[in-house]
Amino acid sequence: MDTSKLSLEQKAELLSGHGPWRTHAFPEAGADSIVLGDGPHGIRREVVEDYSKGIPESVPATCFPPAVAVGSSWDPEVAERLGAALGREARASGVAVLLGPGVNIKRSPLCGRNFEYLSEDPLLSGVLGSAYVRALQHEGVGASVKHFAANNQETDRMRISADVDERTLREIYFPAFERVVTEAQPATVMCSYNRINGVYASQNRWLLTDVLRTEWGYSGTVISDWGAVVDRVAALVAGLDLEMPGTGGASAQEVVDAVRSKEIDESIVDRSVVRIAELTRLGHAEEQEAFDPPAHHALARQLAADCVVLLKNDNAVLPLDGVSRIAVIGELAVTPRYQGDGSSRVNSTTVDIPLDEITALATERGATVVHAGGYSPGEAEKVARRADVAVVFAGTTIEAEGYDRTSIALPGDQVDTIRAVAAVAERTVVVLSNGGVVSLEDWHDDVDAIVEGWLLGQAAGGALADVLFGVVNPSGRLAETIPLRLEDTPCHVNFPGESGHVRYGEGVMVGYRYYETVGRDARYPFGHGLSYTRFEIADLAVEETGPDTATATVRVTNTGARPGKHVVQLYVATDAGEVRRPARELRAFRKVFLEAGRSAEVRFDLGRRAFAYWDITTSGWVVAGGTYRIQLGESSSVIVAEAGIELTGDPIIRELTMESTFGEWSAHPVVGAEFRQHLTRGLPAEHTENAEEAHREGLAMAANIPMRLFTRQAPGLFSDEILHRLMKISGTVPVSRERVPA
Ligand code: GLC
Repeated sequence: MDTSKLSLEQKAELLSGHGPWRTHAFPEAGADSIVLGDGPHGIRREVVEDYSKGIPESVPATCFPPAVAVGSSWDPEVAERLGAALGREARASGVAVLLGPGVNIKRSPLCGRNFEYLSEDPLLSGVLGSAYVRALQHEGVGASVKHFAANNQETDRMRISADVDERTLREIYFPAFERVVTEAQPATVMCSYNRINGVYASQNRWLLTDVLRTEWGYSGTVISDWGAVVDRVAALVAGLDLEMPGTGGASAQEVVDAVRSKEIDESIVDRSVVRIAELTRLGHAEEQEAFDPPAHHALARQLAADCVVLLKNDNAVLPLDGVSRIAVIGELAVTPRYQGDGSSRVNSTTVDIPLDEITALATERGATVVHAGGYSPGEAEKVARRADVAVVFAGTTIEAEGYDRTSIALPGDQVDTIRAVAAVAERTVVVLSNGGVVSLEDWHDDVDAIVEGWLLGQAAGGALADVLFGVVNPSGRLAETIPLRLEDTPCHVNFPGESGHVRYGEGVMVGYRYYETVGRDARYPFGHGLSYTRFEIADLAVEETGPDTATATVRVTNTGARPGKHVVQLYVATDAGEVRRPARELRAFRKVFLEAGRSAEVRFDLGRRAFAYWDITTSGWVVAGGTYRIQLGESSSVIVAEAGIELTGDPIIRELTMESTFGEWSAHPVVGAEFRQHLTRGLPAEHTENAEEAHREGLAMAANIPMRLFTRQAPGLFSDEILHRLMKISGTVPVSRERVPA
């Protein structure tokens, strides 16, 4: 695009969409119109743009496993294969920018869009999100990592202010975006609807320019969520390049008026026009032949099976190999739940029926299947009595964009049916289909096995059948905690907020970070998942490899009789530093496939960020000197190996002022000793024989008194000359300990 050929009016037009899904075209300047389209787990290309009856029908496409499932795979390869397939389908339907992935953190299980997000943990979300974006863009289709930022609920999402302290943003709500932006360079970043600390994301300069571009080096295009722009000129100045959808020229006029009136310089317009021009080059990607629906359906089934989490399997009830009579119970066995509602909804090319898929595999094995539809305990009991194993399909009825849940309970009729079946069946398996966490407490102890299928996409039925019969050995792990009670969740008292504000009062203590720190039990912890085989971890070795970096190696062995995949989870635990640290934090993971009896060594390189926290006083990442425990976990709760290392850390030298407290002066690493000498010398004689005692007492009492007050209360103890000299040298960092950039 040759932007020099565009008038101001045309440039202003370019800054907003043309209708709901396109950018403007200016052929004379080589500006083609491109299509932006949903969604994160399947192409939603509307056949008509008629919104009078809600979201219109879309062209058939493959509904792949939604993010809630992909997060449970803990496998970047699953995310990559998904991204590549979506890229092929996007191109086949003329979509140049696919509006995904969603990497918002799961703060509460009640969030209505948790099915579209990956995890409660930022590392897991970021690694999978990056893999998805790289693969998608390798197909010539741009990504749109969303929704930046702190969009962790649907309630009042277009107005509410997410009131979040900066350390929490930096350590929890930003890192997944940071990793995707810095590792995968998404073509676009989509800003969220909400305010952050009172400022709309769409016009939040700190967010969209200072953090995203200046700090993270982002050079792509920032687009709005659909309808998220409140003030087009303010958004443009803050760094929001493309407003979606179009506003029929209204926004363009506001921009033209602002330039003409000298409210803004035209260079601000040009800055965004150049980015959008670069974005529209995606429309030139050579047309891809139509995708292959059966092949993509088979791929969806493979990917989905690797996302399934086996939560419980008492007495090896599963797999069903060798079982003669199987009862399949529940409406969801014939009317599967496999995706959520809203902008991500896909018009699936086909949908597997779990009952049919189970019957097919059972028949191959000479087994019989009986079925009871609906959730009538009486009907269910009848078929359960005639079976060796009863499999009950349960789950949520609907989850959607636009509203949050108010409960995590399963529908009552489903709970009654599960309990009735468990009371009469030889063995009972529950298969769950849900986009957000559900409570297991009403029936957990009554059943033998629980398969958490989340929402698995159109091939859910086949994938679940493959896992139930052991065609696929389950290898999913929880990407979010399943609590015992909703009230146990860390944000419970602050969710979903009130009077236009939602306080992130739990700070960094989100998900397992909270449960492990306060010692609160969960039904199943983050990272939990069983297999049909067994794995062992051994020979953990940790070595510091440089200033505040380390490597960890460990040997994993499949000690069972069946091939399988295992997720090696590496957590770091420390209480070093001046801030409250979570009990442990996931800092690396690797999914490995091993044949029965085979071993593999896994190596992790841990950079500074694996040990750092965000220090708000210096607005930067700090590694505090101290002991760091490297922990290998089968979950965030079950640690199977641990090794400690000592890190020197950054010199946390704070320049002293009269606002610094007596305690900070006394403990200061550079001037503290001299300060204490002056203090002791300054004490009246009768105190000197027990000066240390007096000093200790004084410390305890005076520790929190600012020096400006202390010197008034103890005049003459320190001369102004001494105080100024000590303040002057207090900020000098010893050369040997200059801070290493994070
Ligand atoms: C919606 C969603 C966003 C989606 C967009 C276009 O409101 O928040 O995820 O991509 O609008 O449908």
